[in-house]
Amino acid sequence: MLEHLAERAAGAVRARSRYPRLPAGPPEPAALQTAQWIARPTRFLERCRARYGRVFTMRLIAQEPFVSFSDPDAIKEIFTGSPDALHAGEANVVLEPILGEHSVLLLDGPRHLRQRRLLLPPFHGQRMRAYGETIREATLRSMAGWPRGRPFRAHDRTQAITLEVIQRAVFGIERDDEIETFGRALASLLDTIANPLLLIPAVQTDLGPWSPGAILARRLAELDALLFAQIRARQREGRAGREDILSMLVEAVDEDGARMTEQELRDELMTLLVAGHETTATSLAWTFHRLLEHPEALARAYEEVDAVFGGGPIDPDRVHELRWIDAVARETLRLNPVLPAVGRRLQTDLRIGGVDLPRGVVALPNIYLTHRDPRAWPEPERFDPSRFLDGKPSPYAFFPFGGGIRRCIGMAFALYEMQVALATILSRLTLLPAPGARVRLTRRAITFAPSEGMPLVVRDRR
Ligand code: HEM
Repeated sequence: MLEHLAERAAGAVRARSRYPRLPAGPPEPAALQTAQWIARPTRFLERCRARYGRVFTMRLIAQEPFVSFSDPDAIKEIFTGSPDALHAGEANVVLEPILGEHSVLLLDGPRHLRQRRLLLPPFHGQRMRAYGETIREATLRSMAGWPRGRPFRAHDRTQAITLEVIQRAVFGIERDDEIETFGRALASLLDTIANPLLLIPAVQTDLGPWSPGAILARRLAELDALLFAQIRARQREGRAGREDILSMLVEAVDEDGARMTEQELRDELMTLLVAGHETTATSLAWTFHRLLEHPEALARAYEEVDAVFGGGPIDPDRVHELRWIDAVARETLRLNPVLPAVGRRLQTDLRIGGVDLPRGVVALPNIYLTHRDPRAWPEPERFDPSRFLDGKPSPYAFFPFGGGIRRCIGMAFALYEMQVALATILSRLTLLPAPGARVRLTRRAITFAPSEGMPLVVRDRR
């Protein structure tokens, strides 16, 4: 493995000489920049911005240089640029061993467009209401087991909620015993891929039974067996009034009238799981953090839930009336985007934001830094949900779900899930900070999450 890493490092040195005229950036070798990017990502980004401004070049092991942008005008050029010139799939290649070669996240060009078109209809905003009950019930089931009056790790609980929601709404699993078997296999795979070392391609290979690569392969095989069984069951049974997303995907046809193969369906299910589960769970955990830091925002959220639902159960069909809670979720996504950046690999020489970039480098719309840009966001560090009450921010200044033709397919689903889950929780529980807890930002694989599992104390409201 060391040889492999050395070879990769040498590749990075070659890359520096291959791209001599990129915007300035940290002078440290790629290995050191990678270590900082993994261990202290926000400090690394903030330091780069302070030294080099809105455009800078980061160099990571085994990757082409990343040119980071945090100016909305430049972000607009990237998101509205030609998808043939700006490949997003290639920039996500590190996920291929997990997601599979047909994953919409990894494809570019016509194959990406075909998969995206097949996947989009079930995620249309209007359809989300079909999942409201599922989200509310999963939240209530989880809440029933939360300890009262003593600290617990809220992030584990939000993960249990989003995992159950994906299993029921996306995979269409109904039986509780199946939910449990699936849940265990999913959780152990997700636990394995939370290891940031697995972001290094050399570590993904099988180097003996207890190497991370071998463990990953075993967990994937276990889950694949369950996924294929689920797909075949849906193919046998047909849609028959079912609302789950897999049932729709099994029947979806492309422009030539062709359906997805079993392998394509497996890869897309894995993609929806990996893209949709941890991201939503982490965003929910961050909203607890922000609400606890801002008791006035929390008080207003309680008032709103009580005013709309009169102290009774939440009606998922009416959560769109909770405008403050929606604003809280969005302001949390601004300050704590779970994915710090998205990438587009240049297929041709291109001028972006007035900078000439050569083919091969990755242009990086930097979500974390753009969301904190004082020109786009006055007093950017201040948590202020009212920013989202009047009017919509520019999609190039606020893009926690990415943008352009690659924008997150699950955006409406995630926002709706956050809203139903938050409303359900706030209607029943008082949130309190865990004594002595100091929540910071920590990395979980490619996501930015609250530290210590987001400690929380709750009490019954009534
Ligand atoms: C708060 C929760 C979520 C966040 C912050 C989030 C964020 C993102 C981001 C940043 C991207 C990359 C976009 C780009 O490159 O421009 C993405 C892509 C994607 N997301 Fe999400 N996501 C969330 C939830 C979900 C959910 C619930 C699902 C589905 C169940 C989902 C499915 C996808 C898929 C399939 C893509 C690939 C789209 C493509 O390449 O065309 N995401 N998401």
